[in-house]
Amino acid sequence: MKEIKGERWGSRIGLIFAVAGNAVGLGNFLRFPAQAAQNGGGAFIIPYLVAFLLMGIPLLWVEWAIGRHGGKYGYNSTPGMFHKLGKGKYLKYIGVFGIFNNLVIAAYYCYIESWTLAYVWHSLAGTFTGLDSNAISAFFSAYLNIDNTNFINIPGTGIIFFILTLGLNLWILSKGLSKGIEIVSKIALPALILFGVILAMRAFTLDAGESGAVYDAMTGFNFLWTPKFESLSDPKVWLAAAGQIFFTLSVGMGSIHCYASYLREKDDIALNASAAGWMNEFVEIILGASIVIPISAAYLGLEWVRSNVGFEMGFRTMPSLFQNWGPVLSVIAGVVWFGLLFFAGITSSLAMGQPVMAFFQQTLNQSRKKSAVTFGILTLLLALPCILFYRMGVFGEFDYWAGTFALVVFATAEMIIFAWVFGIENAWGEIRKGADMSIPMVYKFVLKYITPIFLIAVLVGSTLKPATGDWILELTNLFNGEGWNFAADSVVGTILHIGSENLAYFANGVPTEIFFKDISRLLLSILFISLSFLTYRHWKKEESK
Ligand code: ALA
Repeated sequence: MKEIKGERWGSRIGLIFAVAGNAVGLGNFLRFPAQAAQNGGGAFIIPYLVAFLLMGIPLLWVEWAIGRHGGKYGYNSTPGMFHKLGKGKYLKYIGVFGIFNNLVIAAYYCYIESWTLAYVWHSLAGTFTGLDSNAISAFFSAYLNIDNTNFINIPGTGIIFFILTLGLNLWILSKGLSKGIEIVSKIALPALILFGVILAMRAFTLDAGESGAVYDAMTGFNFLWTPKFESLSDPKVWLAAAGQIFFTLSVGMGSIHCYASYLREKDDIALNASAAGWMNEFVEIILGASIVIPISAAYLGLEWVRSNVGFEMGFRTMPSLFQNWGPVLSVIAGVVWFGLLFFAGITSSLAMGQPVMAFFQQTLNQSRKKSAVTFGILTLLLALPCILFYRMGVFGEFDYWAGTFALVVFATAEMIIFAWVFGIENAWGEIRKGADMSIPMVYKFVLKYITPIFLIAVLVGSTLKPATGDWILELTNLFNGEGWNFAADSVVGTILHIGSENLAYFANGVPTEIFFKDISRLLLSILFISLSFLTYRHWKKEESK
């Protein structure tokens, strides 16, 4: 396989900024608050932190180690890296997940990123000034063109901003690692942290009766931070916490492997991985938790937050709350909030592009620029269904299958392969090679047993989750011959569309949501098969040389 010669990180600090920028993303500021609120606030935090320590940190080390090890053989994308972990011919196809996940997530992620760019523009232009919450929510629906009953939504300016965002990503990617990604990360990460601190300070100082706030800002903070130990026995909260850890750390995507592959064999990974992981947690727990929930709870109350929270809130609700701060401050807050989101988003989407480009550079022998174009065309083709059929659930399907389920599948597979096929002794040695920190011995045991068991439990739990939520009852029913009732949001329930009353593809001659969901799944399957075929063809050629 052709090595991409000369591609290395410019400096250690640049690398840390790039990998931390990869992790810190929309997930920290939009997904985390939504997950925390939907899962009971303080009930969420404990499983979340346990998942970080027992799953997040080990997976970061594993992905960095697989990446640096693969890079030694000239592989910068996961099919080649996995091929080098053992003798099995199947290994490289597991690696295909590292291309598939990045590509599909990039498609819908860049779409959200483009909303943030559009909202920076509209904040600056004063579009939101004086608008109440209904008007801003209506603006958002109109922006996405989802306020009609058509099954197709054509958002004119939305598409322009999307193309602008994608173009910007491709331009940076085509500049290379040190001249593109590294420079952007060094600017974007400090800027977004500064913006986050400004908004978090504002949230901290909101008192009831001040600037139109109805409740004290502490209402939201108490909700998030008062631990509820009873949640430890609730599998639903564990699944949500594990899902958030995957998304926020960008594990199971294939991007960390790629970034690590540009390291030298003796470069540290243990400390780099830990530093980037902890930096992400700082941004998520300290800043991510201190903006959306406390500010919305201060204005709208906890009940409202609990029942309305979601990632759209950042666009539908936040600009209207900023209006309470007066005409000048509300414009500044809008620019700071959406600017922060844009910076967070772009440093993550760049990390999704790089591995896909490396794959095409290596398998199709493309130049960096050509591979950027290939990535751009594929991202556009995948994003268009998300944009045009947003209301019909295509976006949600991509997020569920690639951005949630496939992350867990890939992470579970890589954990088992690394600890058991590559072997725990090799794995442990690889992680500690060149390490600038000593890793506690207990993590050897964690890597071999705890993390794989944890991951399998998450995978099985989400696949088979029973409708009643009561596993014991369901098992008893199963042994009594009464079968197993899958929850609508279990993987099996999702495949079977459990909970949907009508499974018809057309109603009154118009395609239904079920139709769009099944077509999305077909499209994703074709993509996975095509990437596998490309991998197969490339290896066949290599082997015959
Ligand atoms: N890790 C990135 C995020 O949190 C994908 O948004």
